[in-house]
Amino acid sequence: MAAAAAAQQQQKMAEQEEAEMQHGPVPIEQLQASGIAALDVKKLKDAGLCTVESVAYTPRKDLLQIKGISEAKVDKIIEAAGSLGVYKCQPAPRQRLEIIQITSGSRELDSILEGGIETGSITEIYGEFRSGKTQLCHTLCVTCQLPLDQGGGEGKALYIDAEGTFRPQRLLQIADRFGLNGADVLENVAYARAYNTDHQSRLLLEAASMMVEARFALMIVDSATALYRTDFSGRGELSARQMHLAKFLRSLQKLADEFGVAVVITNQVVAQVDGSAMFAGPQIKPIGGNIMAHASTTRLALRKGRGEERICKVISSPCLAEAEARFQISPEGVTDVKD
Ligand code: GTP
Ligand code: MG
Repeated sequence: MAAAAAAQQQQKMAEQEEAEMQHGPVPIEQLQASGIAALDVKKLKDAGLCTVESVAYTPRKDLLQIKGISEAKVDKIIEAAGSLGVYKCQPAPRQRLEIIQITSGSRELDSILEGGIETGSITEIYGEFRSGKTQLCHTLCVTCQLPLDQGGGEGKALYIDAEGTFRPQRLLQIADRFGLNGADVLENVAYARAYNTDHQSRLLLEAASMMVEARFALMIVDSATALYRTDFSGRGELSARQMHLAKFLRSLQKLADEFGVAVVITNQVVAQVDGSAMFAGPQIKPIGGNIMAHASTTRLALRKGRGEERICKVISSPCLAEAEARFQISPEGVTDVKD
């Protein structure tokens, strides 16, 4: 008798867990069932709001900026979103069930990352030229497609390329290593070249509409800051640049929250000009100042080692220790160091 009750309890817990795992974003069309006109739903969609959650994440004053939506309608929309439960507090999950880690391709690197790059937040990878940022991004585009039990995310990847260094050919080589079909792997990577910072921001609207349609596990911006360095120049434009960058990063965070994707952004570095350089040798620092530092949940610094060897250091993270790991760039992407 007791055994039957225990089995029943276990079954119930498994069902509950399943329900939690399958919880995904609610398509914006659901608002129609709560009395919002189809035409207004379309206006929200055109403004980049593709899920009910995105309504909750957008400040009311920004909703008021959407063309053709009156103040009264905005309030009705917020109420309708509320009736679908998006503003509710929920009991703290027993564990962060929906967060998974995507393997980097190197076991040593994965071990300091406690499994890999985590979904649902922004990971920033910075380092000087040729330190391996782009190569790591390429590898993740493949590994994010692997099954969960192989360190994957069972989802597609979206690659925003601001530097023109994306090479599909590399994905084919990496796919081979993981026993995946090259054509399928390429099919699952959506690619867009960004030409300026406004364009780069607009691409995020498109990203949201693609993520409603299919399951994405990863979103890459390589690099997030390059176009800011050319679009804004000098001290005079510094505050405009930082404001634009902050908005861009916030939209990225929104995608991470809304769709649970791992957002990986790369960043360049500049030489630090202060007294400390005289004692400790040339110091480097990532671009983007405090805005960038606060936006990324996890910050990783890459530097060159001997030959193809690279070193990754965890700079800041809510849960990882400050540790270093070695990896290697090889024809099959990021791997462990082959001594
Ligand atoms: P920037 O974008 O210039 O700031 O550099 P990055 O940090 O993105 O560097 P990237 O990831 O492009 O790394 C370039 C390094 O990877 C170089 O040292 C290349 O030699 C190496 N690399 C690129 N492709 C291959 C390859 O197919 N095989 C091997 N073995 N190495 C490669
Ligand atoms: Mg690069």
